[in-house]
Amino acid sequence: MDSSFEALVSLPRIGDEAPHFKAVTTQGPINFPQDYRGNWVILFSHPADFTPVCTSEFMTFASREPEFNALNCKLVGLSIDGLYSHIAWLRTIKEKIEFKGMKNVEVNFPLIEDITMEVAKKYGMIQPGESSTKAVRAVFFVDPKGIIRALIYYPLSMGRNFNELKRALIAMQTADAFDVATPADWQPGDDVIVPPAGSCGLAKERMQCEDEELTCADWFFCTKKLSKEHIAEACEKEITI
Ligand code: BEZ
Repeated sequence: MDSSFEALVSLPRIGDEAPHFKAVTTQGPINFPQDYRGNWVILFSHPADFTPVCTSEFMTFASREPEFNALNCKLVGLSIDGLYSHIAWLRTIKEKIEFKGMKNVEVNFPLIEDITMEVAKKYGMIQPGESSTKAVRAVFFVDPKGIIRALIYYPLSMGRNFNELKRALIAMQTADAFDVATPADWQPGDDVIVPPAGSCGLAKERMQCEDEELTCADWFFCTKKLSKEHIAEACEKEITI
C-alpha cells in the first residue's frame, strides 16, 4: 500500500483523541475538537451537496437538531465541496425542498468545506472501494473530553437512521452516568446490564440474589431497572426518543 492510499484509509478508532483540525464552515471558522470541549459532538460526512439522499438527511438533522442539543450534543457536517456550494445548497433546501412534512428548513449547524479532503482523510471518510472523490456517510460520536466514542459508517446509497443516532448517544451517556451497559435493541426505560461479577465472591453473591435490585440469569448476566426519568435526571435533560 503506498503512503497516499494509506492516508485515504486511515481511520480513527474508538477511544482515540478526535483528530484535530481547523476548518472553514457555513457558520464561520472552527477549531475541532477544542471549540466543542464540554459538549458531545456528532461529526458526520455526506457525499455531495445537491444530491437527494444527502438533502433528506440534512433536512432531518436540521429539524431534529433541538433534540440533539437538548442532550448536550452539537452537530457538525462535512462534504468535499466548497463553501459557496454549501451555501447555495442550504439556501435551495430552505427555499424549495419539501420532504416528509418538513419544509422551509434552515440548517443552523456548521457544514465544513473540505475541498482539499484534509479532514475527510484524517477521519477515514474516503473509502476508496466506494468512492475516491466523495466521502461516505460517516458518523463520529465525540465525547465532551474530545474522545471518539463510537463510529458508524453507511454507504453512499443509504440514508441514516436518526432515531438510531439519538439512541446511540443516549446509550453512551447512560453508560457513563450509571456505570452500566445496554443490551441489544435497548431503548431508554428498558432494563440495563450491570458490570459482570469480577470475582468468585461477587459471582456467588449474585447467584444467591443478595442484591434485590438485580435480576440475574446467571452470575455474569445481571440486569436492573433504570427509568427514563432517572436517566433524564442524571443528564438534567428530558429524554424522548
Ligand atoms: C445522494 O445523496 O443522493 C447520493 C450521493 C452520492 C451517491 C448516491 C446518492
